[in-house]
Amino acid sequence: MQGNRFDWRWQLQRHIESLRSQGVLFVPRQPSWLPAQQDSSNPVSRNNAEDPGRTAGRAASGTAEQLAGGSAPIPPAAASPGQTVGKVHSATQPLPASLAGRQSAEQIAQGGLFASETCTEASLTKEDRRHALATLAEEVSRCRRCEELYATRTQTVFGVGPLDPEICFVGEAPGADEDRMGEPFVGRAGQLLTRIIEAMGFKREEVYICNILKCRPPGNRTPTVEECRNCFPYFEQQFTLVRPKHLVALGNTAARALLQTTAGVTKLRGRMYEFRGIPLVCTYHPAALLRDPSGTMKRETWEDMKMLLRHMGRPIPNAKGDPKQQ
Ligand code: URA
Repeated sequence: MQGNRFDWRWQLQRHIESLRSQGVLFVPRQPSWLPAQQDSSNPVSRNNAEDPGRTAGRAASGTAEQLAGGSAPIPPAAASPGQTVGKVHSATQPLPASLAGRQSAEQIAQGGLFASETCTEASLTKEDRRHALATLAEEVSRCRRCEELYATRTQTVFGVGPLDPEICFVGEAPGADEDRMGEPFVGRAGQLLTRIIEAMGFKREEVYICNILKCRPPGNRTPTVEECRNCFPYFEQQFTLVRPKHLVALGNTAARALLQTTAGVTKLRGRMYEFRGIPLVCTYHPAALLRDPSGTMKRETWEDMKMLLRHMGRPIPNAKGDPKQQ
C-alpha cells in the first residue's frame, strides 16, 4: 500500500515538474488522474491514469515551443573556444522545478504545489532517485505521445549508467540495435562511443548514456521537432534525477535540444556551454565520425573531449592511453 502511494506520488511530482518547467503556473487542486480520487466511470480520467505522461504533454502544449527544437537561436557566443558561454539554456527557459521529493501526498493533493519550498529535489536519497528513475523508465515504456514511434518501436530505450556520474553522454535516438537490445549506443556508433569514453580515461559503466528520444524513429530517420518536444520532459526528469556533473551532446539533435537552437553542431562545437548550470560540450555524433573518411571529425571530437577533460581538471590520456597532463 505504502509502495503504491509512493509510486503515484512520484508520478504526480514528475507531472508537476514537467508542467512547471514549461511555464505552467497553475494546476487544478485535484488532477483527474490521481488514483485515489479518480472517478472510474469517467473514461478520460481512466485513460490519463494509465498514461499520465499524455496529460503532461497536452497540458503543456501551449508553451512547448520553448522546448527542444524551438527556433530561438542562442545568444551570440562571446567566448572563444574553451571558454564558458554563460548560461545559454537558462536564458531562454526557466530552471527546472525541484522534484519536491519530501512533500507529502496530502500537501500535493491539497493543491499547495507551488507554495512549498520546504522540500527540494536535493533532499532525495539515492534510493529515492533510483526508485524514481525506475518509475520514470516504466512510464516511458508505456508512452504513446508519438503515434508513429509507438507503433513501430520494439521497446523504449531509457538510458544506462550510475547516478551522479562525472559525464552524461546524450545522443539522438535509438537505432535498430538499441531498439532490439533496449540499451543506448550498443551498435557500431556505440562501440565508437565506448572507445571515446575509454580514451578519456573512463569505463563505459562509469558514465551515464541516454538519448533525447527514447524510441527509434523508423529507418533511423532524424527525429521531428514535435517528437523531440514530446520526449524532452522525460530527458529533463532523467537529468534531474541522475545529476550528471558534465554533459556531452552528441550530434545536432542533442545539441539543439539542450541549447534550444537551430544551429548545427559544426558551429556549436569547440566551446563550453551550460545546461541548467551543468557544463555542456557539443560534439559530433559517433555515427558521423564513422562516415567521415578524412578523420577530421574524429580529431575535432577528440579536441572537444580534451577541452572537457581540462575543464574537469582531469589528466588527458595520450594516444596510448597513458595519462598526460596538458
Ligand atoms: N545513435 C544514437 O543517437 N543513439 C543511440 O543510442 C544509438 C545510435
